[in-house]
Amino acid sequence: MEMQRTPKAAAALALCAAAALSAALAAGEQAPPPLALKDLAPKTMLVGAAIDRPQAAGQDPAAVAIVERQFDQVSPENDLKWERIHPEPDRYDFAPADRYVEFGRSRGMFVVGHVLLWHQQTPAWVKAGVDGKPLDRETALARLKAHVDAVAGRYKGRVGGWDVVNEALEEDGSLRKTFWLDAVGPDYVEKAFEYAHGADPAAELYYNDYNLWKTAKRDAAVRLVKELRAKGLRVDGIGEQAHWGVDDPPLATIDEMLAVFGAAGIPVHITELDMDVLPRDPDMWGADLSKQATIRAKTNLYPDGLPPAMQEKLAKRYAECFLLFLKHGVRRVTFWGVTDKSSWLHNFPIRGRVNYPLLWDRDGREKPAFGAVAEALRAHGGL
Ligand code: G3I
Repeated sequence: MEMQRTPKAAAALALCAAAALSAALAAGEQAPPPLALKDLAPKTMLVGAAIDRPQAAGQDPAAVAIVERQFDQVSPENDLKWERIHPEPDRYDFAPADRYVEFGRSRGMFVVGHVLLWHQQTPAWVKAGVDGKPLDRETALARLKAHVDAVAGRYKGRVGGWDVVNEALEEDGSLRKTFWLDAVGPDYVEKAFEYAHGADPAAELYYNDYNLWKTAKRDAAVRLVKELRAKGLRVDGIGEQAHWGVDDPPLATIDEMLAVFGAAGIPVHITELDMDVLPRDPDMWGADLSKQATIRAKTNLYPDGLPPAMQEKLAKRYAECFLLFLKHGVRRVTFWGVTDKSSWLHNFPIRGRVNYPLLWDRDGREKPAFGAVAEALRAHGGL
């Protein structure tokens, strides 16, 4: 009978295997064929990364080489956001988005669209009412439909799945107080899904949010998707962004979140995975410039490199999380960036720190976390 391993035990085994591999290589043994995450992952799981504008244009050859070698899926870090692609009512800037879609298509990858409706990165004109009045329902919906038709319509048959609505929930599970909610009412979410399906009937459609491991938000997301589906709308999955830390959320909480979504019959996509290795401080949010300098000095712990003990901790954390993704049959894991060079976490929650959230370092070298993820995938039955 096959022994059931706990995620912790399996992660430890994966780490041992990664360490043995490094030792063998150091001892001059013949290198095994290079590992590619997309090949090690089960056929049912896509593995990808968000790419930025220079990468989509081929201007970051080291990152492009990693993406080509390792991944079978891409997401656009910024270039399909409303602010970028539709900055003025009658002006669309499709060129960077076209390059992004072509980047993925020409390499045979599953191309994700991010994002059709969000309250951030949306230009002021979308939120403005007519003749100085507050934005009304009819105008807001007409703008949304025109935008979705133009953007999702342009990439019909080429974008495989869309983040249709992003971050519509507050932490307590209520609908976030946004201009969309104010102008349209709660059914703006279903309208967005309806328009997206109309624009590209074959595309997968997702609801995407962060902190879905928190009970109230998690349960609200399940209710939301069930309600949408009960109305006959297409919803293919929930995206948990997974901007996580090396300790939080706890593994048991992630396990529970994935189990709850699974029990509700909702496929899960891990859409923006990275692991913040720096401390967070409640004062970081909204701190003025002088306070920021003090907080930065206190929390920018590794300006000259990540110490080996933290590298190992990060590797173990990644392996443990992947084992949970595998256990629950997660459909896709997308890293939010390729190498540590260009992660958004250098500037969040405060600007100007040095972070190490991904699998490749600033020079494009594999970190121990890469080996640990590869071994977790292999241990689960990949190549
Ligand atoms: O490109 C300009 C550059 O020309 C200018 O000099 C510079 C000055 O600040 O700004 C640059 O644009 C920045 C852009 O990232 C590219 O680096 C924007 O200011 C900055 O706001 C933008 O941040 C992005 C953020 O979303 C807001 O859209 C991050 O890159 C991106 O990683 C982040 O991604 C979001 C997901 O879409 C949704 N989930 C959360 C996730 C993290 O915040």
